[in-house]
Amino acid sequence: MHDRRSFLAMTGAASLPACPLRADSFDAALVADSRLLGWATPPVDHFEPRPMEIEGTWPADLQGTFRRIGPAAHSRHGLRYRHWFDADGMIQEFRLDGTGVTHRGRMLMTPKLALEDREGKRLLPAFATRPEEARPVRRADDMNVANTALLDHRGELLALWEGGSASIIDRESLSWEAFKSWGEGLEGLPFTAHPKVEPDGTLWAFGLATFPYGALVLYHISGNGAAARVEVVPLEQPGFVHDFVVTRDFLVIVVPPLVHVPGSGDTYLDSHAWKPELGSRVLVVRKDDFSRRRWVQLPAAFGFHHGNGWNEDDGTIHFDIFLADDPSLLEESFTKVMEGHLVEASVPRFTRIVLHPDGSFAVVGDGGGGDFPTINPARVSRRHRYLYNVSSTSGTPSWLPGALEKRDLELDRLERFDPGEGIHLEEHLFIPFSHAANEDDGWLLGSFLDSSTARSGLAVFDARGVADGPLALAWLPFPLPLGFHGQFSSA
Ligand SMILES: [Fe+2]
Repeated sequence: MHDRRSFLAMTGAASLPACPLRADSFDAALVADSRLLGWATPPVDHFEPRPMEIEGTWPADLQGTFRRIGPAAHSRHGLRYRHWFDADGMIQEFRLDGTGVTHRGRMLMTPKLALEDREGKRLLPAFATRPEEARPVRRADDMNVANTALLDHRGELLALWEGGSASIIDRESLSWEAFKSWGEGLEGLPFTAHPKVEPDGTLWAFGLATFPYGALVLYHISGNGAAARVEVVPLEQPGFVHDFVVTRDFLVIVVPPLVHVPGSGDTYLDSHAWKPELGSRVLVVRKDDFSRRRWVQLPAAFGFHHGNGWNEDDGTIHFDIFLADDPSLLEESFTKVMEGHLVEASVPRFTRIVLHPDGSFAVVGDGGGGDFPTINPARVSRRHRYLYNVSSTSGTPSWLPGALEKRDLELDRLERFDPGEGIHLEEHLFIPFSHAANEDDGWLLGSFLDSSTARSGLAVFDARGVADGPLALAWLPFPLPLGFHGQFSSA
């Protein structure tokens, strides 16, 4: 039964029971607490091109296009979604031409959103919300909201959503074009929001499937963009996997014990059970032979994001992950915030895991909370020294984005810029200088929300001196919703 053909023929179909939307108390809560602004719905689907107001001296050499994506249509057709991950994706684009920054934004009109807009009501289940009039889902892409991450690979701009296909985006109009297929017979397969691209363009990815059975789909996409290898690895206890790492020789996928139990809940999220007694399991796969794989058992923990991974010649693997004690962030904080409540959770903390060839392991870390890690992209799968991440400011829930941090993993040193309460720095990408010599010779570029003045913007730091604060800011006169991930294209 667990053969690749039957899996590919069946995957993507699903049937979920009903779950009503919760009442919308958000707008009243927002009046009382402006920090909720990141979860408000933009008033328009299109932000027309607008030059941003520059504060400081924007680096003239930093030229290209920075794009970000995240859930945006939280409230639409009179209903508000239950969870941060539910809503339809919106791309924010920032063009940097050396003299200034121009912003525009566009809601992605996926087949799912187009159908709902035509009918004037919510009709498809989301990650954690099921409308009362929800229609049956024939395949996962029926509910694809393309809201999680972006990838510019081999000339294609892709919007990623881990439950189904990547979406091809027209880079001129920023409009949704089509679902991406990586090859014949691969249509509709789940594709992670966190593929890894090595410096030579080789792409590695996985997809987490829960139907027709739990499985990880492994992808090796060659430099010319065609699917080189795709393999299905059945999972006896399918967990909630969001990210992974690649090293020189291995793919490493951590499966936490947040187990999918088909039919056990009203929605996809609600169909998971936290089973810490199972521990976390790590799948280690050789990149040159997907059939050579092993599992390592680790203590139970839950996390979304990795930093990077690398391996020694003897097969010892080192990788970064932000790990929490349990999934309360996903299950509670990200649900409560949609109702207008900022509640604490087990916060992900920086963790370094070492897997030895004999099956033993070590779990170490500095205990610091944070998430949304990034590295110099030239270090993907290689040993890296620096890791950049966002962290909270003091006095706010520990998961609320605020400060920017730089970790020196060789000297075990932490550098931090805290903009103060009310300003929320989001994921910052590392962009190398044109003549970089050292790993941290580059800029950190990212968006932020100033909830105290209801404005969003773009910040640029010199990665060699994060604690010195931003080199320059570019401001919009209005707020954008907090998003997830971005990408930078130099052209
Ligand atoms: Fe992510």
